[in-house]
Amino acid sequence: MSNNVMVTGAGKAVGLGFNLVLRYLEAGDTVVATVRKPCAELDELNQKYEDKLIILTMDVGSTESVNKAAEELSKVLDHLDILINNAVSVSPDCDKGFFEADLDYIARTVDITAVGALRVIKAFYPLLKKSEDVGLIMNISSEAGSISKCFRTNMIDYGMAKAALNMGTMNLVNTFKDDKSINIFCVHPGWIRTDGREDNPAPLSSYEAAEILRELFEKKRHDFDGHRFITNYDEDYPF
Ligand SMILES: NC(=O)c1ccc[n+]([C@@H]2O[C@H](COP(=O)([O-])OP(=O)(O)OC[C@H]3O[C@@H](n4cnc5c(N)ncnc54)[C@H](OP(=O)(O)O)[C@@H]3O)[C@@H](O)[C@H]2O)c1
Repeated sequence: MSNNVMVTGAGKAVGLGFNLVLRYLEAGDTVVATVRKPCAELDELNQKYEDKLIILTMDVGSTESVNKAAEELSKVLDHLDILINNAVSVSPDCDKGFFEADLDYIARTVDITAVGALRVIKAFYPLLKKSEDVGLIMNISSEAGSISKCFRTNMIDYGMAKAALNMGTMNLVNTFKDDKSINIFCVHPGWIRTDGREDNPAPLSSYEAAEILRELFEKKRHDFDGHRFITNYDEDYPF
């Protein structure tokens, strides 16, 4: 059965979001790719997959923009089966330590990365509820969001944002606990060359990582009992 899938933050061709879009299209699904600005590579895909690809403009940092995008989508699509919150924001001081980093960047990173995902879930929930199967929400998190495994002294904004996303995920697990039509996880997607650079030591290209995740998401769709923070290889990861 083919699915209607939405991926946020899909407007960077070397990034994970774009490659998730590509993998789902190749698998025969209908895909909603959300972007902040036009993306030439997505426009190219649109020529090949015309009726299967919907490009939606959405800034996850703006409730107004997210609600408007949901309203627009509901005019052309009657349901969503899988929602992948992939969009992320990282500040220019991400690599700096506590004493060097401008702490005022943190709120913005948390707002886009964690609150943004919740905004999207809230606005698109009515479409997910109309799935004939389980409506699946996959929040792309990171091992950097694990509080118990934290070892870094940099990436404060990013780590805090992903930890907040994990907390948001668990809150929604509780919210949906009696509703077996919606399932939700947060996922560390692996270490990926999302900058597209060949000298990046990460073992997975975005294209490779996307297929691992696509298969994982199908496997987890009806799993309501397992741990909620998992890796791309379906290992439980500590919060
Ligand atoms: N690379 C890794 O090894 C690794 C490891 C762990 C987790 N992850 C996670 O995997 C995901 C994908 O990583 P990536 O490097 O491919 O991400 P990315 O390219 O840095 O960001 C993904 C997209 O988020 C979009 N975005 C930023 N602010 C936004 C906003 N306000 N509204 C809507 N979209 C916004 C960007 O759009 P623009 O193109 O418009 O800027 C970008 O296309 C992220 O969630 C990341 O944290 C990656």
